[in-house]
Amino acid sequence: MSLIPLALFVKHDGQSSRAGVTCKYKCGNACSHEVPNNSDGAYFGDIVRSAMSRRGVLKGGAAAVLAVGAGSVLAACGDDGSSSGGGTSTGAQAGGSPSGTQFTAVAPNKEDAVVIPDGYEQAVVIRWGEPLFADAPAFDFDRQTPQAQERQFGFNNDFAGLLPIEGQPNTFLLVCNHEYTTEPFMFKGYDAENPTLEQFQVAVTAHGLSVVQVQGESGSGKLTPAFGQYNRRISANSEFVVTGPAAGSDLLKTAADPTGTKVIGTLNNCSGGVTPWGTVLSGEENFNQYFGNYDKVGDQTAKDRLKRYGFVDGASERKWERFDRRFDLEQEPNEANRFGYVVEVDPWDPASTPIKHTALGRFKHEAATIHITGDGTVVAYSGDDEKFDYMYKFVSSKKMQPGTGQASMRHNMTLLDAGTLYVARLTGNEPSKIDGSGTVPSDNGFSGTGEWLPILKTNEDGKGESFVDGMSAEEVAVFTRLAGDKVGATKMDRPEDIQPNPKTGKVYVALTNNDKRGTEGKAPADEANPRNTNKNGQVLEITDEHAGTKFTWTLLLVCGDPQAADTYFSGFDKTKVSPISCPDNLAFDDYGNLWISTDGNALKSNDGLFSVVLEGPNRGETKQFLSVPKGAETCGPIISDARVTVCVQHPGEEDDASADNPASHWPDGGDSQPRPSVVAVWKSGGGRIGV
Ligand code: FEO
Ligand code: CA
Ligand code: CA
Repeated sequence: MSLIPLALFVKHDGQSSRAGVTCKYKCGNACSHEVPNNSDGAYFGDIVRSAMSRRGVLKGGAAAVLAVGAGSVLAACGDDGSSSGGGTSTGAQAGGSPSGTQFTAVAPNKEDAVVIPDGYEQAVVIRWGEPLFADAPAFDFDRQTPQAQERQFGFNNDFAGLLPIEGQPNTFLLVCNHEYTTEPFMFKGYDAENPTLEQFQVAVTAHGLSVVQVQGESGSGKLTPAFGQYNRRISANSEFVVTGPAAGSDLLKTAADPTGTKVIGTLNNCSGGVTPWGTVLSGEENFNQYFGNYDKVGDQTAKDRLKRYGFVDGASERKWERFDRRFDLEQEPNEANRFGYVVEVDPWDPASTPIKHTALGRFKHEAATIHITGDGTVVAYSGDDEKFDYMYKFVSSKKMQPGTGQASMRHNMTLLDAGTLYVARLTGNEPSKIDGSGTVPSDNGFSGTGEWLPILKTNEDGKGESFVDGMSAEEVAVFTRLAGDKVGATKMDRPEDIQPNPKTGKVYVALTNNDKRGTEGKAPADEANPRNTNKNGQVLEITDEHAGTKFTWTLLLVCGDPQAADTYFSGFDKTKVSPISCPDNLAFDDYGNLWISTDGNALKSNDGLFSVVLEGPNRGETKQFLSVPKGAETCGPIISDARVTVCVQHPGEEDDASADNPASHWPDGGDSQPRPSVVAVWKSGGGRIGV
């Protein structure tokens, strides 16, 4: 198969193509502020209490019985009743791509459309504002209300999980989160200096998560929403219970919650994961941006801690502190300590209270994905998506109970409340050969070894034990970044999804970019982050002991224009790959191939979804499966036999655009407003994806 010549639109001087307005509303302009990690990064081995560093951890075997993360539930189950493909070779077909990746690559483009390969079809599954309940009003862009939004699909869908409903063939729960709101694209005439109370309330209710039943149809991958019994909206107004070492801590107490155990709302939910026990995890990411008046915090210690999370002076962008005192740091400095966690939702019980798990630490969680070892131990991986921040994993002390009954669910929803939290340190094999240019070292590509450094153990009674000198357990749980600084964790290039491959157990990490790498006063390139002023990112492959503390690693991809010398595709012929930039979310197909969605393509074409072959002679073969409309980011990919599903986040979000002057009319065309939506893509006639 010949690929389309792929040099179109590639520019070599590009910054991330993310619009300024996206930076402002999505991450609180993280890029233009000082990098929050100013730790010296030195390793103080004696700070980690050696008594723990090797104690009681299971030797990770190769015996991974089950690993389910973002997007892999369907891969595990086979959603159309066909075989799971487990016995199919992943080797290259004669003269072409291996199974799962046999499609004609989509060329880089700037279309205002979802562009898919020939022979495939697509349809929107659900759009921002569609009713989730029979009594919810139809979406009306010009007359949106908080009451309506509370009963409708939220804004800017990021993560998506599809959970098959037992006993109802081809019927699923679609669980999406809603990362952030972009008010200038939600309200005509929006005045950023003077938002109204109603606009504030709509935005609050447009955050959070949605659970919605979707119905498949035979012969296609189309999914249609239904008013199912499990449908639910969780927003920044919903109650959460706090578990783990920070529950009840003084650090979490506020006037509204003197117990420090009940938080109202979840914010900036980015990527996530589906657990093998049937719940959904979601990471609270850039929560700092919702809080105003950092400069008016009186206590210097509190101020220093907030600074490590990127809080900045003055009013917040959305001005929420004008409407609700909990967003005013001067009045409630602890409220911010109540966000930045992995949240867990039981989508099978609409009345259940979702959980914030503090045993997994507090940082800008991009996701949490699960690997189960042979003895039922749960390993949860999560990245802290900020330049020079860290990779973490949590290893449970309890074992997963099989089955989906209520007793199993009750037990399994405590698995992330007892165990040990680690942060990663990586060592390159050929450090002397890393000069920041991206030149591949001679030994075996970019590769090395690593160690998981324990920072916090949570016992089954909920009490914590710190492994970081000078920090209590609750401090490690709440100011986890500071613990990572103290133990000398490795500063990474924005670790986003970290996800185990259900087929091999190997763990993949999307490292989106870091244009500050190697700049004055900042950490230089190293073998895992091998380029200075890294605009295109890389993908790391980890062979982990899972429950143990050692790992080895290699770089699978060093992303960018394949014609550029500083890109690397595991040795695969670079004339036959698609340009790929800013890897963000990860998924796996049934054949064990990796799929990557991108955020901020620095090569100046639209973001997209790519397949990457991991095993066999075609390892490193990278092909673009789809592109999303202009201004949009590709999120939440799910790859199954029957369909590819992606979240199209922030379509039309360009700097000179707004609701008064839309840059995109996707998905409805004409002169319509752009709407964040979930899209399904399937093979015409209903065949398996990529075969
Ligand atoms: Fe919300 Fe790290 O992307
Ligand atoms: Ca993301
Ligand atoms: Ca992102």
